[in-house]
Amino acid sequence: MARHVIAPVDELPPGTRKFLDIDGRPIAIFNIKGEFFGLLNRCPHQGAALCEGPLIGLAQSSDPGEIEYTKLGEIIRCPWHGWEFDIRTGQSYCDPKRFRARAYPVNVEPGSAVVKGPYVAETIAVSVESDYVVVDL
Ligand code: FES
Repeated sequence: MARHVIAPVDELPPGTRKFLDIDGRPIAIFNIKGEFFGLLNRCPHQGAALCEGPLIGLAQSSDPGEIEYTKLGEIIRCPWHGWEFDIRTGQSYCDPKRFRARAYPVNVEPGSAVVKGPYVAETIAVSVESDYVVVDL
């Protein structure tokens, strides 16, 4: 595993991201509220530059009219088709069954019970050493 020094911490203030090519892999490093995360800049859906999308939050609903907006600035929306991924884990909240034409029995469940989709973006381990952001690949 090779170590790659990315940048001084000061160059990546909270809410910003930095794009890199490390060993031929397009990667983006994010500073989310002082924590650093790496994400492969390739959407697992159809390969768009995922990390160039907008940072948003996660809207969830447990009852009609009740909307909780959490994870502000921690979710990235793919610029091609809008799929959303948690930057901390690469996990998508997209339900792939929505895209099928085949009909299934329908149940009503609270939004908080929605199962996460199987799509996961590749995340990269990022650490901070002596005020430098470092990636292990
Ligand atoms: S390529 Fe990212 S949502 Fe389709």
